[in-house]
Amino acid sequence: MRERLDRLLKEALSELGNAASKEAALQVKAKYLGRKGELSSLLKELASLTGDDKRGAGELINNAKNSLEAAVGVRLSGFDEKEMAERLSAERVDVTLPGRCVYPGKLHPVTQVLSEVEEIFLNLGFTIAEGPEVELDSYNFEALNIPKDHPARDMQDTFYVSGDVLLRTHTSPVQIRVMERAAPPLRVIAPGTVYRRDSDITHTPMFHQVEGFMVDEGVTFANLKAVLTHFLHRLFGEKTSVRFRPSFFPFTEPSAEVDIRCVICSGKGCRVCKGSGWLEILGAGMIHPNVFKSVNYDYEKFSGFAFGLGIERIAMLKFGIDDLRLFFENDLRFLRQF
Ligand code: DAH
Repeated sequence: MRERLDRLLKEALSELGNAASKEAALQVKAKYLGRKGELSSLLKELASLTGDDKRGAGELINNAKNSLEAAVGVRLSGFDEKEMAERLSAERVDVTLPGRCVYPGKLHPVTQVLSEVEEIFLNLGFTIAEGPEVELDSYNFEALNIPKDHPARDMQDTFYVSGDVLLRTHTSPVQIRVMERAAPPLRVIAPGTVYRRDSDITHTPMFHQVEGFMVDEGVTFANLKAVLTHFLHRLFGEKTSVRFRPSFFPFTEPSAEVDIRCVICSGKGCRVCKGSGWLEILGAGMIHPNVFKSVNYDYEKFSGFAFGLGIERIAMLKFGIDDLRLFFENDLRFLRQF
């Protein structure tokens, strides 16, 4: 028995040593240690022995089994370590490579200013209305007291779609659309896209305006001044000087243009304010009785003010941008700065 065992163990150890892979080592393990393996069949032979013979042989077989199991364990963990070392070197990450920059999305500067303007008026109890960009002549001009032969139509070069259909040249027609549907009191702003046949460094064929108006009994020019002064102080800072200059718009009477102290030179005079020290920001006025007539409002009973402003112009002043076209070229090097 001892001799057979010694031979078996030697054979097994040499096969284990020759095993070239983990699979081969496992085969050797099964061949000698498995349920139908060589050592198990020796154990079965014990049944025919008795007493001390049986005990002695059992001990020998168990010792052989233990040393073979230990040898298999060492061999297998050797393969595991090799495998791990190979994987580690194959999956190695070069931590010295420079990282790749992922830029998060941002709001377009025009959208940022638009949101800021909306926020200020929402806080004053105004609501937001919208109107169509493809508009009827009657809303864009006629109802706003700009009849067909009115010289004010020359101020705006219009994109016509067909006879009476055009791309709106301003957001003022939203005044008409809102007042047609609702009765005073009204406090509304109407942001949106407008179109004019114009293109140079201060004009693009498409740009954004915000229209605003308030109608009720007893609304006065003092209300107009208070609301617009508050608005401009919130937008450009409390210390910004504001002035109201007489002007003309067909849909308001009286009309005014509203200026702020130049935010670039603080009033000393520069290229942006053309040396005047002031920047024109808003058109405004008391809504003309003819506008109220076109929506069947009682102009003896109600009064109101209206105003309009260009968003790109404000964005240019706030961010110090001198070419309007940059807003629409979508050059990421420009857009990433905001
Ligand atoms: N609609 C005018 C424009 O596009 C801006 C404007 C001026 C709107 C005076 C108004 C206003 O409501 O009262 O130039």
